[in-house]
Amino acid sequence: MENAKKRIFSGVQPSGDLTLGNYIGAISNWTKLQDDYECLYCIVDQHAITVRQDPADLRRRTLELLMQYLACGIDPEKSCVFIQSHVSAHAELAWILNCNTQMGELSRMTQFKDKSKSHADNINAGLFTYPVLMASDILLYQTDLVPVGHDQLQHIELARDIATRFNHYYSDTFKIPEPYIPKVGQRIMSLQTPENKMSKSDPNPNGCIKLLDDTDTIIRKFKRAVTDSGSEIVASPDKPGITNLLSIYSAVTNQTVEEAEKEFAGKGYGDFKLAVGEAVASALDPVHKEFERLKADKAYVESVYKKGAELAGYLASKTLRKVYKKVGFIAK
Ligand code: TYM
Repeated sequence: MENAKKRIFSGVQPSGDLTLGNYIGAISNWTKLQDDYECLYCIVDQHAITVRQDPADLRRRTLELLMQYLACGIDPEKSCVFIQSHVSAHAELAWILNCNTQMGELSRMTQFKDKSKSHADNINAGLFTYPVLMASDILLYQTDLVPVGHDQLQHIELARDIATRFNHYYSDTFKIPEPYIPKVGQRIMSLQTPENKMSKSDPNPNGCIKLLDDTDTIIRKFKRAVTDSGSEIVASPDKPGITNLLSIYSAVTNQTVEEAEKEFAGKGYGDFKLAVGEAVASALDPVHKEFERLKADKAYVESVYKKGAELAGYLASKTLRKVYKKVGFIAK
């Protein structure tokens, strides 16, 4: 895997069921990058415990997330798929980067501010330093590009700042990563409150499509999606509901928003919502089938994450060794 291709790293937390937002904003793009880049796709279980998790659920969700990566088309023959806690270098580098990150920088992170509101009874130190662990994930692999949805941009900016500062103080060590944000679908919104991001923790279950929702559920949720005043199917700032549905439709049918607008010119909201639901259901149908098949093949799933951990561990150890030397630790 070590060749001249540029390197990609990304991950998802196994903290809840995958959503259509995760799929469109991140995973469906990852699959398209596998031939042209050297890709590492991680299940970031260490990030998930910054909020309370039931251990048995975390174990189940971690494996299910891995199976969903594969079911969406991540090919372990092309990409390195692994579980974060299997490569101890992530936590080791995080310690060093913690000592090179300012409290002020971390207190500006909007995700920290939001999560400390929604988990007011458990504002732990890990929640605060979470972006440093994320910077470690990225910098350990000398990553060129990080494909994520829009909400992760601030964390990637911080990773860049940390890397630049480290390189300046200790001499060139880390590659400075760039975010890679999709043009369509970088911010999928709730179907019920389109001013909020679609999220696993939406209190209204009709607002969020889960990747494993069945066809009837998907279509029902789209039929109930809130729309806006007027009747034209066009994207515009005063039509957040329709704009969101157009982004979803364009993303799953691989076309531009303008093409989708043309397709629905003169049609009514009811027909449009049904068409979006059907397009999403048909995009997810093969994912569901492959997921069910993988669930019955535990040995294969295990072989994927074991092989992934070996390669990721090897690549990560090279950077960690370099970092230890730079900061003045004595070699073993
Ligand atoms: P997470 O688990 O919240 O989300 C995983 C990916 O899905 C994208 N995403 C969305 N995109 C569009 N619309 C939405 N409504 C939507 N909701 C989620 C996210 O932008 C993300 O790309 N901190 C990260 C995980 C992480 C990571 C990393 C990512 C840890 N280390 C290193 C990249 C590189 C997170 O919580 O993502």
